[in-house]
Amino acid sequence: MTCCPHCQGADRFFNQRVAAADLRKYRRHGPRGMTKRLLDTLRAAGVDGMTLLDIGGGIGVIQHELSAAGVTDVTDVDASSAYLAMVRQEAEKRGYAARARYLHGDFVALAGQIEPADIVTLDRVLCCYPDGVALVNAAAARAKRFLGLIYPRDSWWARKGAVLLNLYPRLRDDPFRTYIHSTAEVESTAADHGLRKVMHYGGVVWQVAVFGR
Ligand SMILES: C[S@@+](CC[C@H](N)C(=O)[O-])C[C@H]1O[C@@H](n2cnc3c(N)ncnc32)[C@H](O)[C@@H]1O
Repeated sequence: MTCCPHCQGADRFFNQRVAAADLRKYRRHGPRGMTKRLLDTLRAAGVDGMTLLDIGGGIGVIQHELSAAGVTDVTDVDASSAYLAMVRQEAEKRGYAARARYLHGDFVALAGQIEPADIVTLDRVLCCYPDGVALVNAAAARAKRFLGLIYPRDSWWARKGAVLLNLYPRLRDDPFRTYIHSTAEVESTAADHGLRKVMHYGGVVWQVAVFGR
């Protein structure tokens, strides 16, 4: 695996127990909140025949939903081996695992080996990574049609929340941290790649944005 200390922290944090709980929630309730908004926007734009690169896909909500909506080919790059095992199992159950591939590691480090896809998604991944610009750069460079992002708003309360959330890993000397990146910087990085914002919704903590070309 190619992993920085932050991703090693993510690998420990998003363990088998967390993955199993996430899958139970998804099976019970389906896609929710910002993820549902992102999926609705992509489905409304039409995803039939498109390819998907889901970075930090977790248990694979976006992958399962978009495969059912006509996405032909899925790549998932995740720092968590527990999530990858779970998403692969679920894709097998849903009958599309043969059209999917799974890579373990830091997407920024692996990006050079990864083919561009029509749709690239980062659902609550930016907040786990220290260099937001590098992550968005690498993702945007691989987005042929759409880039979908869900990440925290850069509000004072989100920053205060991140400081509190980071107390526990700091005390345990664990490198896993929550990061709040500048919205202006994220958006201008996407724009540098010729991506135009086509949808945005801001909640109290999270925001969802879809960029297209
Ligand atoms: C909060 S979870 C979100 C999972 C899923 N996208 C969701 O919304 O349910 C963050 C995910 O990003 C992954 N991750 C964080 N940094 C990453 C990186 N640099 N490369 C690949 N995956 C990363 C973690 O392993 C984890 O799966």
